[in-house]
Amino acid sequence: MSPADLIDGPLWYLSATVFALGTLWRLFVILRVGLRPDLSRPRASAVLGALRGLVSRFLPKRVLWSRLRFQVVAGYLFHLGLFALLLFAAPHVAFLDDRLLGLAWTPMPHWAFVLSAELAFLGLLLLWLRRVLDPVARLLSTAGDHAASILTFLVMLSGCLALARDHESLRLLHLLLVELWLLYFPFSSLMHTFTFVIGRSALGARYGRRGVPV
Ligand code: HEM
Repeated sequence: MSPADLIDGPLWYLSATVFALGTLWRLFVILRVGLRPDLSRPRASAVLGALRGLVSRFLPKRVLWSRLRFQVVAGYLFHLGLFALLLFAAPHVAFLDDRLLGLAWTPMPHWAFVLSAELAFLGLLLLWLRRVLDPVARLLSTAGDHAASILTFLVMLSGCLALARDHESLRLLHLLLVELWLLYFPFSSLMHTFTFVIGRSALGARYGRRGVPV
C-alpha cells in the first residue's frame, strides 16, 4: 500500500475512530465522577445557575475586562475563525459530505474562507505569543499546551498550502496532519472544546443552588 493510500484510507478511519471513541470515553469518565454531594439547603435553582454559568463566561466581568481584553479578543478571533472555516469552507463541507455525514450545506464564498483563515491565524499567533512572553502564562503552560498550539498551527499552515489545489501531495500533507491532530485530541488539552461546557455548568450549578450570583 502506498503512503498516499494509507493516509487516504486506514489512517483516516483509525484517527476518526480514536477521536470519536477517545473523546466519548473521556467525557464519560468525567461525568461518572459527578459532583460532590451538596448538603446545604437549596436557595435557588441549580439548573438555572448551570445555564447562567455556561453563558455568562463568554464575556469577562466588567471589572476584569482591562486585564483580560487581549486574551478575549485573540481567543474569539482564533475560535470563531477556525469554527467558520472548519464548518463552512467549501473543501471541508465537501469532505464532511463525502466521508462522514452524507449531507452538505451552502459553503461560504472563497474570500470569506481566506478571511476566516487569516483571522484564525492572527488569533492563534497572538495567543501563543502571550503564552511564551507573559511570565505568568509561561509558568502555567505545560508542554502539552504548546504541543496542542503548534500541532493546530501546522494543520492550518498545511491547509493554506493546500489552498493552491495544484499538488496532490499538499492535500495529503494536510490530511496527514489532521489525522495526527485527531489522534492527539482526546489525550490533550484540546479536549477543552467539550469539557468547557461541563466545567462552567458544574460551577454555575453549585453557585446557583447556594444563591450566589454567577
Ligand atoms: C487555516 C486553516 C485551514 C485551511 C486554509 C484549510 C484548507 C483546506 C483546503 C484548501 C482543503 C482542500 C484540499 C484539496 O482538496 O486539495 C482542505 C481539506 C481538508 N481540511 Fe482543511 N484547512 C484548514 C484547517 C483545517 C483544520 C483545522 C482541519 C481539521 C482539524 C481541516 C481538515 C480538513 C480535511 C479533513 C480536509 C479534506 C482532505 C481531503 O480532501 O482529503 N482543515 N483544507
